[in-house]
Amino acid sequence: MIIAMDGPSGAGKSTVAKLLSKKLKFEYIDTGAMYRAFAYKFYKNNIEITEDNINKILLETTIDYNNSNVYLDEENVEGYIRNEHISKLASEISKLQVVREKMVSLQREIASTKNIVIDGRDITTVVFPNAEFKFYITASAQTRAKRRYDELLNKGEKVTLEEIIEDINKRDFNDTTRKNSPLKIADDAIVIDTSELSIDEVINKLVNIIKGEI
Ligand code: C5P
Repeated sequence: MIIAMDGPSGAGKSTVAKLLSKKLKFEYIDTGAMYRAFAYKFYKNNIEITEDNINKILLETTIDYNNSNVYLDEENVEGYIRNEHISKLASEISKLQVVREKMVSLQREIASTKNIVIDGRDITTVVFPNAEFKFYITASAQTRAKRRYDELLNKGEKVTLEEIIEDINKRDFNDTTRKNSPLKIADDAIVIDTSELSIDEVINKLVNIIKGEI
């Protein structure tokens, strides 16, 4: 069974998807981590993001996802990919169709033998349009920025709320207006706005929907 989730940055998607997968004893696949890992390769090796370099590096790179960890060329890179710089690079790099094709085929392959909860931007529309359950998890831009800000402060990053609001707006713009697989609400997705809900309330809502429909 596939439970697919899309939504903008900071809507709580990954937290919710991860907890839901635990509750259902499904595997969790964070597709954003795969784009981040690929972007991290450019950062780590100081490679300029050009189409030629992307084509070349794609051929030389392996990305895998296992037990909630993303692997770049067999190295677990979870610890390096969740910062503002990699967020921006991932958003930039994920616009390109060659990159998307590689990630989508990897995601389908990883999912082929398991029950999964999988989240991203194009999961309900492109990767698994026939998933058993499709959710669009969202929240107001203000709420998303505040959550992201608190998360980064906790990690010790030096950021201002204004910077985060600007970043979120820029990423939303990039993700929703790009030519290839833009973020949008699938016609038959169930929309959940988490602005006024706690994580537990969101999980309960999802579980009730899933149980009611199984
Ligand atoms: O979800 P997360 O914020 O980790 O994703 C990082 C970036 O990767 C997003 O801003 C988006 O540009 C890209 N992405 C994507 N398609 C996905 C998942 C992530 O384009 N399925």
